[in-house]
Amino acid sequence: MRSDYCAEMTLASLNQSVTVCGWIDRRRDLGGVIFVEVRDRSGVIQVVLDPDQFPAAQGLRSEFVVQITGILSKRPPESVNPKLPTGDFEIKAQGLTILNRAKTPPFSITDDQEVDEKLRLQYRYLDLRRPQLQAKIRLRHRIVQVIRGYLEANGFIEIETPILTKSTPEGARDFLVPSRVNPGEWYALPQSPQLFKQILMVAGFDRYYQVARCFRDEDLRANRQPEFTQIDLELSFVDQEDVIRLNEALIQEIFLQIKGVAIEAPFKRLSYKEAMDRYGSDKPDTRFGLELIDLSSLFQGTGFKVFASVLASGGVIKCLTIAGGDEKISNTRIKPGGDLFNLVCQFGAKGLAFIRVRGTQAEPQLETIGALKDSLTAEKIQHLLATTQAQPGDIILFGAGPRAVVNEYLGRLRLFLGAELGLIDPERNDLLWITEFPMFEFNPTENRLTAVHHPFTAPHPEDLDNLAEARALAYDVVWNGEELGGGSIRIHQREIQEKVFAALNLDMDQAREQFGFLLEAFEYGAPPHGGIAYGLDRMIMLFSHAESIREVIAFPKTQKAQDLMSGAPAGVSNRQLADLQVRSTYQPGLNQ
Ligand code: AMO
Repeated sequence: MRSDYCAEMTLASLNQSVTVCGWIDRRRDLGGVIFVEVRDRSGVIQVVLDPDQFPAAQGLRSEFVVQITGILSKRPPESVNPKLPTGDFEIKAQGLTILNRAKTPPFSITDDQEVDEKLRLQYRYLDLRRPQLQAKIRLRHRIVQVIRGYLEANGFIEIETPILTKSTPEGARDFLVPSRVNPGEWYALPQSPQLFKQILMVAGFDRYYQVARCFRDEDLRANRQPEFTQIDLELSFVDQEDVIRLNEALIQEIFLQIKGVAIEAPFKRLSYKEAMDRYGSDKPDTRFGLELIDLSSLFQGTGFKVFASVLASGGVIKCLTIAGGDEKISNTRIKPGGDLFNLVCQFGAKGLAFIRVRGTQAEPQLETIGALKDSLTAEKIQHLLATTQAQPGDIILFGAGPRAVVNEYLGRLRLFLGAELGLIDPERNDLLWITEFPMFEFNPTENRLTAVHHPFTAPHPEDLDNLAEARALAYDVVWNGEELGGGSIRIHQREIQEKVFAALNLDMDQAREQFGFLLEAFEYGAPPHGGIAYGLDRMIMLFSHAESIREVIAFPKTQKAQDLMSGAPAGVSNRQLADLQVRSTYQPGLNQ
């Protein structure tokens, strides 16, 4: 039906007959002449229509679907639009067919005006017509193509794993599907293809990948969806270095193809412990300094009661030194009710102690609440200034409490102040690996150890004797403070897998019932193997500077896990439930 896409016209077609198909983007009626912009997926082109020749042109409205034939012409110099790629062309119409009419859309397709997200999601087909969204969905396609290209070239084969499966252990709630033919039994939708990809290694495929849909029934935040996509890979006969090297090359390729940026490899590496100590985060933004400094030993034996009692109960005292912060950070901001106070308290702080450094380099003066200052001897003050490298004009902000809590809130404060003070260079691309995660962490709600990565991650061979404290052969790749993906070397021996289950306090019968097929597979010649999974939606979000992953998914769910366009989730008929032998106990208003 068409000869060219609207925005792909070139000089080669000048003065020739062309046909475009698309939607009316804008229409201007100047009486003797009607201008319309026709939009297709490539962009827009201007069309000039003579209303005498085409009376129907007067009835054209936004989003009408048209086919227009005409001569591609140069615009007169005064009407050239330098903002459009086709801004010096127009089509002088010789034929107009209205292929379909359109109701007035509930929001404008072209304008960048703020539109309520609910409305956008309800009319997603209109929302998706907007050039910005089109660009993001195409970027997604391109990134997947680059990844496929790289993996194909490196011997990976794509294998699909089941969606109707058994519960997998990524730590979120499962989505369940009742089985009609096996009444009383349920499938779980996969939280990841983890077990199947390991089985594929036992099966000898050696290098697997999948653009894999995963499902996790968890509370949603801006960067989470109940169903999302992973780029999932697994390789046999590899150690951690092999996996890291291959993935560095993959990431280099993505950056080169998509951003035209050459990333240096090997990437930086930080152990989990170092990342937590220095940045208070296992996905640190290393584009700026402002590191957390541990002052626990310095405050040992000083008389400041608040710090002393924290230290006595095994906690830590850490700080951030804000260069020039004396002027920039007022007392109002760090005292109760202030924005920085509120920020840290939201993450477990009880308050924000501070020291302002004034005076001169030779004779610095400390300005702070009395009890803190009085507790410090001249020698301690000197030590403090040396450790924190604080200069006159700076402010030192303190965190005191359990190590994990202090890391969390000072880490967040660091990010907040780094952005506020303009310390982050937006042009920088810091890629780094976080390694040596602990195998387990204590989960106070369940009162037991849980796996930090997942229970199939191999412990560090040096730490086998003390599994509870062992480091894992796990690695996350972080870009500018965001986790792109994570993976690990896996356990491939039944005895070690059983030991890990035991450390997790998993009942052996239960483990056999859940993962027996994997344990058994390990006994039939499982090769050493490992892999990684990238969160594709998050990756696209970061590459397109989108604010939420909903912007890079064609049909996302809302924060309440609803699809406002199709109306999912929805009730089902009693007949359907009866077929499944499932009865709902839900009573509106009672147990929401
Ligand atoms: P993990 O659970 O770390 O690892 O997930 C890998 C990546 O998936 C993304 N992700 C999500 N994206 C959007 N919405 C969600 N709800 C969501 N949850 C996770 C994250 C994360 O980095 N099987 C292992 C991988 C492996 O060991 O190979 C796994 O799933 O970006």
